[in-house]
Amino acid sequence: MSEIRLSQDPSRMRHGSNMGQPLTRRDGILKVKGEARYAADKHLHGMLYAVIANSSIARGRVTFLDVEVAKRHPGVVDVMTPAHKPPLALDPDAKNNPFMFRLELLQNDQVRYANQAIAVVIATTLEAATEGAALLAPQYETLPARVGLDADESFVPPAVGVGHPSEVQHGDVDAALASASQRIEATYETPAQYHNAMEPHAIVAAWDGDTLSVDAPSQALLLAQMRIAGLFGIPPENIHIRSPFLGGGFGSKAGAAGPQVLGIMAARLVRKPVKLVLRRDQMYGPVGHRTPTRQRLRIGIDSDSRLTAIEHHAKIASSTFDDFFEPAADASHSLYASPAIATSHEAVRIDTGTPMFMRAPGEAPGSLALECAIDEAAFACGMDPLAFRLKNYAEVEPITGKPFSSKALRECYTQAAERFGWARRPLQPRQVRDDAGFLVGWGVGTAIFPALMFQAEARAVIRRDGSGAMESSAIDMGQGAWTAFAQISADSLGLDIDRVEFRAGTSDLPDGGIAGGSAHTATVGSAIHNAGAAVLGQLADLATGDERSPLFGAGNTGVVARDGRLHRRDDESRSESYTDILTRAGLAQIEARGKGGMDPAAQSTYAMHAHGAVFAEVKVAPDLGQIRVTRMVGAFAAGRIINPHLVRSQLFGGMIWGMSFTLHEEAVTDRRSGRIMNANLAEYHVPVNADVPSLDVVTVDEHDPHVNALGIKGVGEISITGSAGAIANAVWHATGIRPRRFPIRIEDVVAAS
Ligand code: MOS
Repeated sequence: MSEIRLSQDPSRMRHGSNMGQPLTRRDGILKVKGEARYAADKHLHGMLYAVIANSSIARGRVTFLDVEVAKRHPGVVDVMTPAHKPPLALDPDAKNNPFMFRLELLQNDQVRYANQAIAVVIATTLEAATEGAALLAPQYETLPARVGLDADESFVPPAVGVGHPSEVQHGDVDAALASASQRIEATYETPAQYHNAMEPHAIVAAWDGDTLSVDAPSQALLLAQMRIAGLFGIPPENIHIRSPFLGGGFGSKAGAAGPQVLGIMAARLVRKPVKLVLRRDQMYGPVGHRTPTRQRLRIGIDSDSRLTAIEHHAKIASSTFDDFFEPAADASHSLYASPAIATSHEAVRIDTGTPMFMRAPGEAPGSLALECAIDEAAFACGMDPLAFRLKNYAEVEPITGKPFSSKALRECYTQAAERFGWARRPLQPRQVRDDAGFLVGWGVGTAIFPALMFQAEARAVIRRDGSGAMESSAIDMGQGAWTAFAQISADSLGLDIDRVEFRAGTSDLPDGGIAGGSAHTATVGSAIHNAGAAVLGQLADLATGDERSPLFGAGNTGVVARDGRLHRRDDESRSESYTDILTRAGLAQIEARGKGGMDPAAQSTYAMHAHGAVFAEVKVAPDLGQIRVTRMVGAFAAGRIINPHLVRSQLFGGMIWGMSFTLHEEAVTDRRSGRIMNANLAEYHVPVNADVPSLDVVTVDEHDPHVNALGIKGVGEISITGSAGAIANAVWHATGIRPRRFPIRIEDVVAAS
């Protein structure tokens, strides 16, 4: 479904501008009624089902697959293996940009990680395909799996994140540490985490000659289209991808995932449409995850309680066959004003699927370690941790010297502290118990996330009947992007939202870029804004150049658009409707395109970040060590808020991720086999409703004229930062024990009770 009706119930009707109004998601109603058709809901006539057979070893090779037995199963149509598969036009191990990842597409019999695809069974029913996969009974030549951060020799990665330097030095950290009056040194460990979007990776693929039609969730349709085109040696325009709704992505659906390409290969092999949907356990391996980290922080403070040195070293893992290096230590670059900052990364290759972008890659684990260490530094100075942060946050970005939105950050600290009641916090830990005897602790963490933009395009149309349309292939990950885009579309066209048709989510529309890096609204929103401005410019030209128009002679900049009419700016009583202008010109419609992207001049002049502060209360059972988060308050400044209702939900979501990071999520690998032992949502813990307390979010007004024309920053990821640290620091304040490994375990906090 590429067209979403966005009319609202009366209680949510807009007043004035569409942007800034708390409209509800229109697709939300479809979802709760079960009427939203996700990619895997597609059913084509004559369609077959494909099920992947996964490796149960983490390293070695497949020596035997019982293809004959599987093929004898009634219903099994074919078994795709390294020896029997359609040819590819490109080596799936080739890599020519940092967003391109090597894919396991049955190239050979090698096994590079547990859960790697080793065959695909195609059958007339899902059940037959599943049973066929089980009948393959693979045999292996097994090598010992390399597991964990100490599995092998480490090395300095060539770059981290997307092309960032692995090591950065600013000032002389060693000298600053040597002369510091207080020094903190601590090591923090975070576990491997998996994205676990609610909707599994899926695909319905249908070939017609060399034309391919695909239903698949993807955070970046053009990237997916280009990748598939390269692999199959067909022009990108031969591929039509529909990504109707995404049940989350969190980075794991950036482009085309390996299992999705296997679905396309299966359809090519059997010359019929094929549906392939991953089971939950199959999402632990081939679709990315977050590396475990071990981070060492060293912090120096002078006698005036000012930071003099921050050294942040992160050890991380990548796969044996591809490069993704989580930029964890980079979290220390921008937030605190230290004259000396050094960050570095060290990596090890292990037998795992390749780690990938996942929910604030780098910032999430990095800021957790940094915020814990800053808390320790504050306590070493005998200072309240908020007061210490207010004294030490950066007024200009420390390494680059660029102007920083420090006023917005200060507002976040102040407003959230006030709402939380922080002033009543005792400095010493383990001072407060509630009526039931639980230890009560309060903690703070600072949130920061770069205001990124990628590139996107939109097409705007104004029709003679006074209605409008806006198109961009942009997807909606579930966060309400399409609702926000429709709001921007309406304002950019000077129309009521009910008069604008918004079309998105299919690859035949102008490129909607990448839904990631918390950059989607800023990037696509800018494209929409520019497309709207361009089409209104054409309309204004038609009117102001025509003697018969009341706008004649007003000039292009001399008109404003509102409610389907152009008005003279200097005399708003003189106006003309879009319908009258187009009718007189004899045009059925006019259209224009617009692009969104960052402004390199502004980027090189200003530090661009969204900011926030999070306060958390935890209660810890003194004898049992059970930790409950009982309260969280966050304040965030993220530029212009297009839809406060949706933004609040995004910020809540990130705060819950923070809780998840500190207390719940961990993928556990069996050291003997290299297999993940909790590859399911029962044992891979994420917070459920009973875990999540009252959350309170304030958005701090911020007008940032430099980030983009609309002043939009992202809200998708920022609130995981700050939240994770605030909870860890609250656990210390409750118990007197500094958490050093995450998720925090019961045995870590009962030790000293
Ligand atoms: Mo995200 S990790 O920017 O999808």
